[in-house]
Amino acid sequence: MHDVIVLGAGAAGLMAGIEAARRGRRVLVLDHARAPGEKIRISGGGRCNFTNLQIAPERFLSQNPRFALSALRRYTQHDFIARIDRAGIAWHEKTLGQLFCDGSARQVVDMLLRDLAEAGGELRLGVTISGLRPGFTVDTGDGPLDARSVVVATGGKSIPKMGATGLGYDIARAFGLDVIEPRPALVPLTFSDQQRDAMQALAGVSVQARVGLKDAKIAFDEGLLFTHRGLSGPSILQISSYWREGQAIEVDLAAGRDLAQEAQAARSEKGARELANALDLPEKLARSVTERAGLSGKLATQSKAALQKLGDAVHRWQLVPNGTEGWRTAEVTLGGVDTRALDAKTMQARGVPGLYFVGEVVDVTGWLGGYNFQWAWSSGWAAGQAA
Ligand code: FDA
Repeated sequence: MHDVIVLGAGAAGLMAGIEAARRGRRVLVLDHARAPGEKIRISGGGRCNFTNLQIAPERFLSQNPRFALSALRRYTQHDFIARIDRAGIAWHEKTLGQLFCDGSARQVVDMLLRDLAEAGGELRLGVTISGLRPGFTVDTGDGPLDARSVVVATGGKSIPKMGATGLGYDIARAFGLDVIEPRPALVPLTFSDQQRDAMQALAGVSVQARVGLKDAKIAFDEGLLFTHRGLSGPSILQISSYWREGQAIEVDLAAGRDLAQEAQAARSEKGARELANALDLPEKLARSVTERAGLSGKLATQSKAALQKLGDAVHRWQLVPNGTEGWRTAEVTLGGVDTRALDAKTMQARGVPGLYFVGEVVDVTGWLGGYNFQWAWSSGWAAGQAA
């Protein structure tokens, strides 16, 4: 009999396992993968954006936006940074408060594995888990395993090729907890065939953009990349978590500038040039926006109204994506175990003493930029204090 069995050796599961083991619990962490912490290893382009200096509750999406607050306050980004420092892992801030390892994401995985082993926790990999019975028997390919407490840390559904499954949701439902319909988030948006034909020439072009939802306050000022299938880049991934089918996004392709005024001011110097060649934009983008605005001819021949139309095409481009790239490329999962069924301090299911849910399997989804790992650390830590 184990005191605590943790299902899933990702960021949240390892954290919960370490903390419970440090409290003297007999801990076993199980995973069907051959290696632990695979998403940590590949994260942040191999450098792991392990937290963010600007952690704030409004940067997490959930049906219950206040739920994450308690865990994020009790185990903060500074607590995790101190842990990284103690492990001697060098790091740097890249942009927007995002912290990355100087070396390799593997250092973070190694730190967690070392901490788990030193605390006396056991890790078993390559174990198939088929279900969880009341009273807590975990059914595995190696036979049944009994535990007083179980921490479900099986993550979301993104990137099935890396071992993501819906096991955590199945367990939640089997124990009577609601699950908010999971959907891909932090994911590229796709064009319809018609949009794709019109935008084909732009594939590979990247700009600094402001991307928002039409008639909504939320917007992100970050990079945008045109792909062969649609739009990607940080600003698009961010807005994808808020976007719903049929909704228009509004894109400012030259955030912080006033293209109409710039063109007006450039008349005397560049008036003899074709309009697209007179704009201070990547060439392919300049051609595309003038075409979309229905303008042609030399800059000098454009009326003030025409330049205003150009400004609208650049700064207020509205389009309705036809979908997302889905689970194959989504960085995270929106939705998950309904937080109304969980205790915010401990992550324990209210109606099922001893059963805990942590990390991405829970209906808490962070912005791009280290927020999701911080949720994994904070929620894992919280359950580790209680399980
Ligand atoms: P996680 O998915 O890490 O772990 C779940 C574990 O459960 C896995 O080891 C899996 O094998 C196991 N499991 C699942 N089903 C099972 C079953 N049926 N039986 C047994 N085991 C099972 N976030 C961030 O903050 N900064 C970043 O830089 C990035 N970068 C990034 C890049 C890419 C490509 C992706 C896909 C994601 C990110 N993320 C990120 C998001 C981040 O990786 C994610 O939010 C956390 O890994 C979630 O941690 P969890 O421990 O909850 O799940």
